[in-house]
Amino acid sequence: MVSDHRKQYGSMGSDIQEIVITSEQIQEKVSALSHAISRDYLGLNPLMVGVLKGVLFFMADLLRSITIPIEIDFIAVSSYSAETRDQGYVRVIKDLENPIHNRHVIFVEDVIDTGLTLNYLLQNLRARQPASIEVCTLFNKPEHRLIDIPIRYKGFDLPDEFVVGYGLDFKEKYRNLPFVGSLKSSIFQTPRLK
Ligand code: IMP
Ligand code: MG
Repeated sequence: MVSDHRKQYGSMGSDIQEIVITSEQIQEKVSALSHAISRDYLGLNPLMVGVLKGVLFFMADLLRSITIPIEIDFIAVSSYSAETRDQGYVRVIKDLENPIHNRHVIFVEDVIDTGLTLNYLLQNLRARQPASIEVCTLFNKPEHRLIDIPIRYKGFDLPDEFVVGYGLDFKEKYRNLPFVGSLKSSIFQTPRLK
């Protein structure tokens, strides 16, 4: 039986059209990814770099089940809105705290869609001469890809549909849902009064 946690989340839950990936499926995948990372980076003292804010839950869960020493840092970019997401405009609004020169970097993203954000950030980080840099993403939307980027650790392939939950937002909302779901079309259309 597939669990449906929508009812526990009141108005947020009723905005969800369909649960695309359950929290149980996410946890199973996270555990497989952390196992692979723990095996591949044994003895390398890797640095995990996450892109805020969407990566919050994924990175926290991943780290908790990684069994080797690992350090973390964050970068934040301007998030473009649902309406303008195809413009590929990226601006770093919070940079890494520490240098990554000669470090083994695992770059973690919530979702790779067109690949424009990732491509920009990878070029930026590669210029700082890390020993290695590999990409880990929980969600991948291959249909919308404009730039081909090798992804070393990948969770789920998603159809080209806007989804929320487990860190992913629509207008900064729905990040705290433990599952990933599509939104009812009325949510995109109705202007909301604050
Ligand atoms: P890309 O540059 O098109 O690959 O965009 C990736 C970024 O767009 C992600 O880091 C998300 O912030 C955002 N994004 C792409 N698809 C979705 C989605 O379905 N829901 C929420 N955010 C998304
Ligand atoms: Mg976002």
